[in-house]
Amino acid sequence: MCGIVGYIGNRDAYPVLIKGLKRLEYRGYDSAGVALINAQGQLDVYKTKGKVADLENFVVEKDVSGTIGIAHTRWATHGEPNSANAHPHVSSSRNLALVHNGIIENYATIKAKLLAKGYKFCSETDTEVLVQLIEYVQISNHLSLFKAVQLALRQVIGAYAIAVLDKKNPKEIVVARKSSPLVIGVGDNEYFVGSDASPIVEYTNKVVYLKDGEIACITLGKDLEIVNLNNVKMVPEIKDVEFNLGKLEKGGYPHFMLKEVFEQPDCIIDCMRGRVNVESQKVLLSAVIDHKDKLLNARRFIIVACGTSWHAGLIGKRLIESFCRIPVEVNYASEFRYSDPLIDERDVVIAISQSGETADTLAAIELAKSKGAFIYGICNAIGSSIPRSTETGSYIHVGPEIGVASTKAFTGQVTVLTILALALAQEKHTMTKELFIKVLDELNRIPEKMKEVLYLDQQISNLAKIFTYAHNFIYMGRGYSYPVALEGALKLKEISYIHAEGYPAAEMKHGPIALVDIEMPVVVIATSGSLYEKVVSNVQEIKARKGRIIAIVTKGDQVISKMADWIIEIPETLECLDPLLTTLPLQLLAYHIAVCKGMNVDQPRNLAKSVTVE
Ligand code: F6R
Repeated sequence: MCGIVGYIGNRDAYPVLIKGLKRLEYRGYDSAGVALINAQGQLDVYKTKGKVADLENFVVEKDVSGTIGIAHTRWATHGEPNSANAHPHVSSSRNLALVHNGIIENYATIKAKLLAKGYKFCSETDTEVLVQLIEYVQISNHLSLFKAVQLALRQVIGAYAIAVLDKKNPKEIVVARKSSPLVIGVGDNEYFVGSDASPIVEYTNKVVYLKDGEIACITLGKDLEIVNLNNVKMVPEIKDVEFNLGKLEKGGYPHFMLKEVFEQPDCIIDCMRGRVNVESQKVLLSAVIDHKDKLLNARRFIIVACGTSWHAGLIGKRLIESFCRIPVEVNYASEFRYSDPLIDERDVVIAISQSGETADTLAAIELAKSKGAFIYGICNAIGSSIPRSTETGSYIHVGPEIGVASTKAFTGQVTVLTILALALAQEKHTMTKELFIKVLDELNRIPEKMKEVLYLDQQISNLAKIFTYAHNFIYMGRGYSYPVALEGALKLKEISYIHAEGYPAAEMKHGPIALVDIEMPVVVIATSGSLYEKVVSNVQEIKARKGRIIAIVTKGDQVISKMADWIIEIPETLECLDPLLTTLPLQLLAYHIAVCKGMNVDQPRNLAKSVTVE
C-alpha cells in the first residue's frame, strides 16, 4: 500500500505534492511526509505521524519552496506508524531522499551488511535500508543516482515502487517499480509521479505506466529514459488517460462511502451500458466474443480474489454454475498462491479486484499463468496492474472508489459476473430462452429498484442508533444470500470495529448458535425465494434463543416479518439478483452505526484501499 507522489518542473512542488497525497490517502494514512530541494540546493524533509492534514499543520512556517519534490502517505508494514518511520527516508550523507511503497523482504540481511560497514539507522523500516544501500552503491562505485538505483535494486528481493532524489542533482528524480504500481505523468516541460493517475490527471492526461522491473530517470528538459534491471533500454509507451475529477470529490455527501453507496444505481447503468440489450434480448461482452473458444471449452473456472471481491466471487460461482453449468471454484488469492494448485491450460482463472493492484491476486494470476491457465480479469481501476497482466477481462466501470470500505465495486463486480454468466449461457445454450429474457429484464430493472432501497436510508439510520453499543453481530443467509451475509459482516467490522460474523443460516446450529442470547443482534437476509421456508426455520431457532432479529425481507412478506424485531423491506426481484439489492441496506446499516460511534468511516484504522503487500 502507501501512496507516492513526485513532481519536477517549474511550478512550486509542495502544493502539487500535497494535493496528490490527498488523492492517494486511500492507500494508507498512518503517516505522511515530503522532501523538497529548494533554490539554494538544500534538501528539506518534513514528516509526521497521522494524515496529510497533520503534515500540512506540521509544515506551517517552514520552508516548503522548491520545484522538485517527492512525497508519501504510509500504511505501516515495518515499524510502528510514527514520524521516525514515516517517509521520505534520507541517506547518511543526507544527500538522498527516498519514498517507497512495498516490502523489501531481504532488508535484514542488507541492513546487517551496511551496519558492519558503519552505516547508522534512525528508523525500523526496510525503506531506510534501501536508501542507504543506494547511497553505498553510489559512493563506492562513483555512480550517477540512476545507475546506483539500478545496481542496488539487483540486490533487493521484494516489492517496491520508489522515487529517489539526489540533492546534488536537483533536476532529476529516479523511479522504479516491481510488483507495486507507479505512473509517470508527462507534462509540458514538467513531470509528475503517482502511485496511480489520480494525482496527475489534473495537470496532464499523458502517462507512462512503468512496467515491472523498469527504472526511469526523469530529468527536467529531457525525454524520459527507461531501462530494466539489466540495463536494457526500454521505449516509454505514452498513453492517454481519461479521468473524471468530479468523481474524486464528495459531491455534498459527508463521506465518500455514503456517496458511493448512493451512486450504485448509476454505476450499475454504466456497468451494463452496451452490454445488456433488452430490445435485442442479447448480452454483449467483448471478452466473451473475443475468446469464445477458450471460455466455452474451459474445464472449470477458478475465481481468485480477496475480501469483498472474494464475496462477489462466491456469488459469481452460483451464477456461472447455475446459468452455464461450468464448475467454478472460488479461492482466496492469498491461499491459492501457496496451495500448489492443480491447474493447467484447460482452466480459466477469473481474477476479481477493485483496485487491480492487490498483491495476492496479482501473485495468484502469475502462478496460474505459469501453469498455462487462461486469465480473465474483472477490475475497476482502469490501467491498473491486473488488467495489464491478464489476457482479457471486463471493467466494472463504477468510477473511482475512494471510501476504504468497498461498496459500489461489489455491486459492479456482481453485475459483471451476472453479465458474464449470461454471455456464456447465451453461447452454450444452457438457459431456456424464457429464463434468459427474464434475468435480462430484471437485471435492467435493478437500478430503479436500488433507488427504492436507498429511500430506506432514514429508517436504517434510526435503526443504527439502537445498535451503537453492540459488541457483536451475526449475519446469516442461505444460497445467494450467504455471501451477502459475509459482506454485511465485513462492512460492519471494518468501519465500526464491532465484531461481526457471517454464517450460512443452517450452519448456526452446528456451533455459532451458542452465541445467541438477548444481547445478540442477528441480521437475517430472508427474501422470498427457493430457500425462504428453510430460512423461516433458521429464524425460529434464533427467536427461541431470544436473539434480536433484523430481517431483510421482500416487500409484502407475511411470515418472517411477524417473527423479526425489525424489518427492512426491499423490492422483489429474481433470487439470483437479490444480492444486488440486499447488500445495500447492509452497507447503510454499517455506515450509520459507524457514524453514530463517531468512527472515521472513509479511513478506518489499520486499513488501506489498495493492498499491495502480501
Ligand atoms: C472491504 C475491502 C477489501 C477489498 C480487498 C480486495 O471493504 O475493500 O476487503 O475488497 O482488499 O481489494 P481489491 O478488490 O482491490 O483486490
